[in-house]
Amino acid sequence: MQDFIFHNPVKIYFGKGQASHVAEEAAACEGPVLLVYGGGSIKRNGAYDDVIRALAAAGKQVVELAGVTPNPRLDKVLEGVALAKEHGVGLILAVGGGSAIDCAKFVALGAGIGSDEDLWHDYIESGRPAPEGLIPLGVVLTTAATGSEMGDSAVVTNTAIARKMGYTSFPLMPRFSVLDPSYLTTLGRDQTNYGFVDMFCHVCEQYLSLPSDDNLSDELAEAIMRHILRSWRACLADPSDYTARSNAMWDSTMALNRIISRGKETDWVTHGIEHGISAVHPEVAHGAGLAVVHPHWMKYVYRATPEATGRFARFACTVWGVDPTGRTEAEMAAEGIERYSDFLARMGCPRTLAEIGVPADDAHLDELAAHHDAMGGSYQHVGTAEA
Ligand code: NZQ
Ligand code: ZN
Repeated sequence: MQDFIFHNPVKIYFGKGQASHVAEEAAACEGPVLLVYGGGSIKRNGAYDDVIRALAAAGKQVVELAGVTPNPRLDKVLEGVALAKEHGVGLILAVGGGSAIDCAKFVALGAGIGSDEDLWHDYIESGRPAPEGLIPLGVVLTTAATGSEMGDSAVVTNTAIARKMGYTSFPLMPRFSVLDPSYLTTLGRDQTNYGFVDMFCHVCEQYLSLPSDDNLSDELAEAIMRHILRSWRACLADPSDYTARSNAMWDSTMALNRIISRGKETDWVTHGIEHGISAVHPEVAHGAGLAVVHPHWMKYVYRATPEATGRFARFACTVWGVDPTGRTEAEMAAEGIERYSDFLARMGCPRTLAEIGVPADDAHLDELAAHHDAMGGSYQHVGTAEA
């Protein structure tokens, strides 16, 4: 294994009714609470009412930043920074999916940097570490997808230049996250699919990377992937199944809370390509873009780099049940990727750019490539000439 430091301080409240704990968490912070949320789904799944009740119990004044879009935008973040400063908020509470959470993380960062500093240029673009002592962040999660609830990453789009960029720095870690699976039952089929694609992709981007040594992280990743596939089928079969939704929620958190990347190089190129697509086409959901890119990235990489073939063969056998008898590693790898691609089709996920409304002519592909997010990894040397 590679050397590592592991430190994940996020307190998780998991289960039905756990949003009541927002009261004690908020009471421990001085000042008003900035509530960050999207277009209103939280008013239909009960999360908004639960949070408002908890904040009232804590006697908290609430300031709202509503209308965060999927693929959140920098201008919304800056609106939140202004609100946080104006009201002297003591807790930022994101209620929603990855977009609300990431917007809230950047609001905390933007409110904590110097007045002579620029959030986009000096931090997001340069990757400079965030300062300590940001306004604490809490989360009430309503999607099973990104893992942002237990991580120090956030993603934002600067629409002025059509760039969607990820940023990772430890002070962005939430202080606590409420994971109540009952909020997931209002997710439609597409959004449920996109969340599963995202979490599955996250596991792959850690698992399929080098080194290929004997590694606990890989075995944990295999268990998570098999479990994701079971939860996925169960959630689509019965969207109101609490057990299925609760499994999905913990699957997604475990897929990206840094546990399974310990000892691994990781490879986030699929995400980097998807960020290029949704930067230019903000209407494309993150998981929809990944569903199109991911199997194609796999097909390219297992052939183009000999170090990868064995990893893809193992993925085929342990996750997709491919029988290794009489097959070469390349044949196993190809069969596993084919089964993954077929599975996505059966679940109803898009698999081509045309299906997500993105033109596939050369000029447009060049434009998407120019806007991709340079997220590297094990196989980033592969295909640069063709990028
Ligand atoms: O805006 P509202 O009305 O809340 O509706 C949302 C939105 O339209 C809706 N929704 C959320 N919870 C719902 C619900 N609808 C019904 N019932 C519920 N319980 O779903 C839509 C999508 O919400 P969004 O928050 O955008 O989804 P998701 O959680 O998939 O987040 C995607 C964003 O996270 C980023 C993505 O790039 C994208 O911007 N990511 C963040 C990561 C991180 N911070 O570590 C890692 C990921 O790889 C990802 O890149
Ligand atoms: Zn993702």
